[in-house]
Amino acid sequence: MEADSQELINISEALTSRLTSLEARSWIKEQATPYRELMAYYQCAMMEIETRFKIIREDLSLRGRDNPIESIKSRLKTPESIVDKLIRNQFPITVEGIEENIFDVAGVRVICSFCSDVYALAEAFLRQNDVTLIRKRDYIQSPKPSGYRSLHLVVSIPIFLKDKTKEMKVEVQLRSLAMDCWASLEHKIRYKNQRAISDRVGEELLACAEIAAALDQRFQEIRLQADAEDRRK
Ligand code: GTP
Ligand code: MG
Repeated sequence: MEADSQELINISEALTSRLTSLEARSWIKEQATPYRELMAYYQCAMMEIETRFKIIREDLSLRGRDNPIESIKSRLKTPESIVDKLIRNQFPITVEGIEENIFDVAGVRVICSFCSDVYALAEAFLRQNDVTLIRKRDYIQSPKPSGYRSLHLVVSIPIFLKDKTKEMKVEVQLRSLAMDCWASLEHKIRYKNQRAISDRVGEELLACAEIAAALDQRFQEIRLQADAEDRRK
């Protein structure tokens, strides 16, 4: 038997002999309860943000304006992915470590019809008194080298619980339909391949990102033209 494997067995035996199953259970409970609680708070914050966007949509509809939101999706980062990120960045592997350092545990994605809707919605959302902007990354103005485009906001928003108010950080990604189409397919291609994608595939994806950007631009122009024609009627 290899020395390393024997050493692992020794460590494992030493640990199990010292840790009764009752102790192990209580340790897990101690760690898991605050974690579950934090995840529940993130869930509340995502619900809160979804509602804020739905209210903006309702308000626009009351004024007889077009609906700028195609869809809203929320997701909570998986525990595996949270731990990977903590380790990668050498952050403490604790509930506090997560809350203080990881800004995208809760993510809300707002898919808009047109590129201009992205900015209009972001502005309306950020204008709200209790929404604090922590970080803004405009990958529409400055796309990523992959060709990725979207507007990323990290915000802090209060959730109102029974006995307290808690500020939660959420990453909000706003993008147009064309940007979302590109990002979804690119993600599938890039992450489905076990190996890194070739330069040739990377270049093709980048070319598709340019087509998606051109499509956004063209739809924007058509919309302006159609609105102008409408006003002349
Ligand atoms: P992480 O710490 O890895 O989350 O990166 P970051 O905090 O610098 O965030 P960044 O602003 O780079 O955005 C990360 C998120 O944006 C990812 O979880 C994806 O949803 C999306 N994203 C960023 N780059 C790409 C890309 O090239 N392709 C696709 N499909 N999505 C991307
Ligand atoms: Mg991120």
